[in-house]
Amino acid sequence: MATITVSPQANRVRTDTTMRMQVCETVSLTASTKLLRLRSAEERILPRFEAGAHIEVNVTFPDGQETWNAYSLIGDPADRSLFEIAVKREERGRGGSRYLHDAISVGEILEVRGPTNGFPLDMDATSHLLIAGGIGITPIYSMSVQLSKLKIKHRVIFCARDVEDAPLLERLRSSSFADVEFHADGGQRDCYYDFDSLLRDPVEGQRIYVCGPQALIRTVVRISARQKWRGGAVRFENFGGIYDAPNPKLTVHLAKRSKTIVVEQPESIVDALARHGFDPLYGCKRGDCGICAVSVTSGTPMHRDMFLSEEEKESGKYMCPCVSWSASEEITLDI
Ligand code: FES
Repeated sequence: MATITVSPQANRVRTDTTMRMQVCETVSLTASTKLLRLRSAEERILPRFEAGAHIEVNVTFPDGQETWNAYSLIGDPADRSLFEIAVKREERGRGGSRYLHDAISVGEILEVRGPTNGFPLDMDATSHLLIAGGIGITPIYSMSVQLSKLKIKHRVIFCARDVEDAPLLERLRSSSFADVEFHADGGQRDCYYDFDSLLRDPVEGQRIYVCGPQALIRTVVRISARQKWRGGAVRFENFGGIYDAPNPKLTVHLAKRSKTIVVEQPESIVDALARHGFDPLYGCKRGDCGICAVSVTSGTPMHRDMFLSEEEKESGKYMCPCVSWSASEEITLDI
């Protein structure tokens, strides 16, 4: 039976339905990105989803450690027999994407949770501007497909290192309703897209959707605020990372439980809590939804989320442990 969790912090609904799904096809989209097609292992009709939704895929490593990785659904929502996800092989990640690339082939069974949608299209918007960085193209692609199906013209800005590293680009370009602009930045910060010009003049009623690295999202959010786009004009979903912390090993005290755990990167604090059986509350695991947000009673959080306000971050009293870390070697959470 499905469990529905409602977060008072984020007004978000998460379904914890778990399904066994079989990999029925794999396709290389680029040298580092693989498309997986999944069908119900029990030949069930799959749950409905809309553009922007994601599923979580369980990865259990040979040492027994377990993680759930979130992947946007890029297939046709009308096809209730198939889920499609695109997995980029992340060399620095927790290892889930490497496992899906190297160890999973046609016929394998995966445990899948969801779908959940924290990044939906706003069909009341007067126009839609879609911005993607790298593998952040996946929800943006499904949004573009949905808008094209509805015969709604829209603009897509797709930034990636180079065209070889730009999955789904040709599919995006095949729609006559999508005005697609590809920008190759070579991975160089000083070659980023000119968002100052793009966002110079607010467009009444337009929605901006951004998915990609935090630096890209921060840039779009910062410029749109400075240029006085109306509040809420920007919707985003990020693929966070915690790999720049000075201390790769962190001692986490759980005040209410009088317990202490040690977390070592690349594992996140949320994943470590789950591994130790503390059943933490979480949703996106990307720092977007705030479902995992907790109070901090001592220590110095290093924020990597997009959910907390600047004031909340500066106060040091809260953190989203799915992506954030600590500048101090010990931190105490009020859980
Ligand atoms: S789970 Fe969504 S912000 Fe942490």
